[in-house]
Amino acid sequence: MGLKMNTIEIVLFMLVASNLSNAQVFDVTKNGANAKVDITQALLKTWKQACATKSRSQVLIPKGTFKVSQATFQGPCKAPIEFNLQGTLLAPAVDGNFKGGDSWISFEHIDSLTVTGGGTFNGQGKTAWGKTCTSSQYCGNLPINVRFNFLTNSVVQYVTSLDSKQFHVNVLGCKNITFQHFKVSAPGDSLNTDGIHIGRSTDVKVLDSNIQTGDDCISIGEGSQQVTINKVNCGPGHGISIGSLGMYANEEAVKGVFVKSCTLKNTQNGVRIKTWPDSQPGTASDMHFEDIQLDNVGNPIVIDQEYCPWNKCNAKVSSRVKLSNISFKNIRGSSSTAVAVKLVCSKGYPCQNVQLSDINLSYKGSEGAITSECKNVKPILSGKENPRACITSA
Ligand SMILES: *[C@@H]1O[C@H](CO)[C@@H](O)[C@H](O)[C@H]1NC(C)=O
Ligand SMILES: *[C@@H]1O[C@H](CO)[C@@H](O)[C@H](O)[C@H]1NC(C)=O
Ligand SMILES: *[C@@H]1O[C@H](CO)[C@@H](O)[C@H](O)[C@H]1NC(C)=O
Repeated sequence: MGLKMNTIEIVLFMLVASNLSNAQVFDVTKNGANAKVDITQALLKTWKQACATKSRSQVLIPKGTFKVSQATFQGPCKAPIEFNLQGTLLAPAVDGNFKGGDSWISFEHIDSLTVTGGGTFNGQGKTAWGKTCTSSQYCGNLPINVRFNFLTNSVVQYVTSLDSKQFHVNVLGCKNITFQHFKVSAPGDSLNTDGIHIGRSTDVKVLDSNIQTGDDCISIGEGSQQVTINKVNCGPGHGISIGSLGMYANEEAVKGVFVKSCTLKNTQNGVRIKTWPDSQPGTASDMHFEDIQLDNVGNPIVIDQEYCPWNKCNAKVSSRVKLSNISFKNIRGSSSTAVAVKLVCSKGYPCQNVQLSDINLSYKGSEGAITSECKNVKPILSGKENPRACITSA
């Protein structure tokens, strides 16, 4: 490891660099964009020109702050395309003229898209949080900052999503998409501002990224398969979550989630899997959490099949989502709640093959000794276990 490159890496780096410099550049300011106007039309025109180019192309947004009301960048494109955001795109503020909507910036049906450049998608969420809906509601009428819909073989790197009005990023129907050196930034008390939500996608990677926000750091929904989360720092926020699952009929299975070498600091939860009670049928399997460092984290390890945040579910009927093949390995650090391990599985479908190994958590608060809560699960324990999970009520 380290920063020294060997000869092969240098050659590869030069190849990549020369490829990028070979791209035909389409600068949005050549199409009339400037800091004084809404650049939506100029940006869409620039995208169309680049997208229609038969060789590698680049949409360039130079340094500066540019207003965009709402934009969808459609593929398919004729060749690999780069969205080079060096400046800041600024979303509309919520005021008397704000119309709502479900997305601000979207990329759709594109193969080989690269989003990069060091710039920022500024959602101006500060003008929205707590104003159009309260903390007990889901802010459905507020736009998601950046959507990636039906992309293949794409990379999002060295850009920031700042103060989204709702989720920062939503990944839907993608295959082979990687987020790396990606940054999310919003205050801990911002509402519904999940960092990256992934659904119905295969081969999604989130690597070497920093996510500070008010809701889930990364949330993984139905139909997510082969998701790798590596070296992500979360906090503040609500932690890394799979679910909630089972709300809708015909949800696709979750299969293969690998969360490794992540840190969570001052988050409401650590790593968790949640499903609704009285749910639709579903399955989630092969979910693994390993080498996770926690610092002052509430509910560090959670499986909750009675998840019901607004008390609007029939908690008497158990969840019909089957959970299996789950491991929590080398999870260490400090918990801010006494119940450091909560494994509450469905009565109708007890969790199968849950493994806990090398759990080393500490708790120094006033709720008593560190402990676990378990229902309908018989975890396989190995290595150090603090707390020793499920010894009384397996
Ligand atoms: C995934 O996408 C990246 C970026 O385009 C590409 O380099 C890589 O080969 C793709 N992987 C697969 C398995 O297609
Ligand atoms: C769980 O793992 C076992 C053993 O590796 C495997 O046979 C089984 O198919 C897995 N279950 C699911 C639902 O993937
Ligand atoms: C558990 O963590 C504490 C620090 O919180 C450390 O002193 C101790 O050595 C760890 N135990 C093991 C077995 O890793």
